[in-house]
Amino acid sequence: MDGNGRWAKKRLMPRISGHKKGLESVRTVITQCQKLNIPFLTLFAFSTENWLRPTQEVNFLMSLFQESIKKESSALIKHNVRFKLIGDRKPFPKKLVDKIKELEKLTEKNTGLTLSVAINYGGRWDIVNAVNRHQKETLSKKPLTQKNLIQNLSLNYAPDPDLLIRTGGEKRISNFLIWQFSYSELYFTETLWPDFNERALMTALFEFQKRERRYGKTSEQL
Ligand code: FPP
Repeated sequence: MDGNGRWAKKRLMPRISGHKKGLESVRTVITQCQKLNIPFLTLFAFSTENWLRPTQEVNFLMSLFQESIKKESSALIKHNVRFKLIGDRKPFPKKLVDKIKELEKLTEKNTGLTLSVAINYGGRWDIVNAVNRHQKETLSKKPLTQKNLIQNLSLNYAPDPDLLIRTGGEKRISNFLIWQFSYSELYFTETLWPDFNERALMTALFEFQKRERRYGKTSEQL
């Protein structure tokens, strides 16, 4: 969800206004995914590198996450959304961790959209964490296989993403789901995240429909 800062700057507003507006796009995209019966949506909200931003912005984002989880809980429950948070929770305040756990528990049996929000997430962190978990489980006695690495990744409950959408014009993955994106279709758009609306999502999905997913095979074999 890139481009919040630039969206605000263009309007001579503080960067945090861009994040506030970005939250509206989050709501729009969740609603649209539900309407379209898309089973999994994973949002990259805060990377392990985002702590390097000015303290004021980091603090603002942390309270925005906390408030959103509190405020949107009932809507998520009502709309049958299964909520998950992926990322290293260690540096979060206890209050936030408790709220996250509570919402995950309350929505764990929901059968609609699985919404995963990545906060303090990094693909490299996730892989190292999975390796460590495997070593702990097997007391370092079993060699790591792809299957048990996948079982220990944060998104072990979801299939690999079909489509990555990055807003804001940059064409990179920035340490997001680096393992899972191996065969994902990549879609980059200049649209800034706060401007990303239903129409922009449909444009991305239409583009995705045109792609031929070969997974190493030839066209004729599909
Ligand atoms: C990147 O834009 C955006 C972020 C680091 C924050 C994303 C947060 C939200 C969209 C709001 C809330 C989300 C949830 C899930 C509750 P940027 O600041 O890097 O923009 P720039 O590249 O234009 O500076």
